[in-house]
Amino acid sequence: MEKVTCFRNIGELIQMQSSGDVPRLARKTRCALLVSQGRVTRVIRESEVHRQDFFKVIDLQGRSVLPGLVDCHTHLIHAGDRKDEMDLRMAGASYMEIHQNGGGILNTVKATRQATEEELYDRARLRVRRMMALGTTAFEIKSGYGLDLDTEKKMLRVGQRLRKNLRVPITLTYLGAHAAPKGKTIDQYFEFVMEHLPEFRNLADGVDIFCEKGVFTAAHLRRLFLHAKLVGFHQLRAHVDQLSHQGGCYNAARMGAISCDHLEHITPHDIRALYLSGTTAVLMPGATFFLGGKKIPPVHALIEAGVTIALATGCNPGSSPSCNMQTVLGLAQSMYRITPAQALIAATYGSARALDSHKDFGGLLPGQRADFMVLKTDDHRDLFYCFGENFVESTYSAGRKVKDEKDPVF
Ligand code: NIG
Repeated sequence: MEKVTCFRNIGELIQMQSSGDVPRLARKTRCALLVSQGRVTRVIRESEVHRQDFFKVIDLQGRSVLPGLVDCHTHLIHAGDRKDEMDLRMAGASYMEIHQNGGGILNTVKATRQATEEELYDRARLRVRRMMALGTTAFEIKSGYGLDLDTEKKMLRVGQRLRKNLRVPITLTYLGAHAAPKGKTIDQYFEFVMEHLPEFRNLADGVDIFCEKGVFTAAHLRRLFLHAKLVGFHQLRAHVDQLSHQGGCYNAARMGAISCDHLEHITPHDIRALYLSGTTAVLMPGATFFLGGKKIPPVHALIEAGVTIALATGCNPGSSPSCNMQTVLGLAQSMYRITPAQALIAATYGSARALDSHKDFGGLLPGQRADFMVLKTDDHRDLFYCFGENFVESTYSAGRKVKDEKDPVF
């Protein structure tokens, strides 16, 4: 007999339904979620529960149940911190000035090179435990704090170990083109990245590049993407037009990027390119907020143009040291002036789409992974209304409980 677990007595169940490419938040009340072999099989009315036999029944006591949050842009494997930069910024230095003076990303590169693989694993695992306690059930991790072969590979091996041991969906991205290491020009280092790209094919699912004034250009992006395609990478991502307009978004979209990330400085021309290529726009309000940025991406123009938007923490030690997707939801609502439903769709369906996994998870629909969070309340809007609190009581991955608020994670 098929072993079906019944999660009963659900106060409200939120699912992300998508007909074609337009997702919609659907809400059901007084129902039960049936799960078998880690996947959702069906949703039934609470009144129907007693008529059937189940392998296991779990009473969710009238709580709100939502698809797990998907964090499609993180740099969560790293060592060290950059707390000193907060004072530098308040004294007037910009993010790029700190970088150009040898700090910023290069500080994290130094610490990450020095850390052992075991140390990196332990630190990353602790971050992942916190993320799960906060409702995240799938995420992406980039390399990019090695800028040499040994450390970039070390980071990606840590990512592979996390994926194997935690048994949650993790997408790995090779971000060799994050900055040039000390002692090399951008062009010298870029040639090095191009030469060694094939060595990363079995370590990562995709590639990424930081296209920005003083870092890599749109021409570098085009060459990297072309080479990556030839080598066999399918997922092309790019940090683009974050601090200035460099044409990164337009070029990445035209080259078939699966996601373009940041986008504070994009133009209507870029939005059109995103729409035509079906590229997901990944937005990180936490990074704008933490750096005190005044410019936010043209979120409403993106939505009106039919571009799928995704939300992510961007979790990294420099521009967004938080791994809390609930904070991102709150920031998105107030900074972007979007509704709770729009923010939730972006943080589940949208983010899963940025990882090319929207058929597999993100909607809590029949056939999809049973990745979900149970809130402490019966109304999902509390996530937005009482901002700043953790409303996740427990988190489930493929139907198994992975985090509970009683677990000591902080
Ligand atoms: O996504 N902008 C480039 N990369 C990261 C920040 C990396 C860092 O500052 O360590 C980002 O914001």
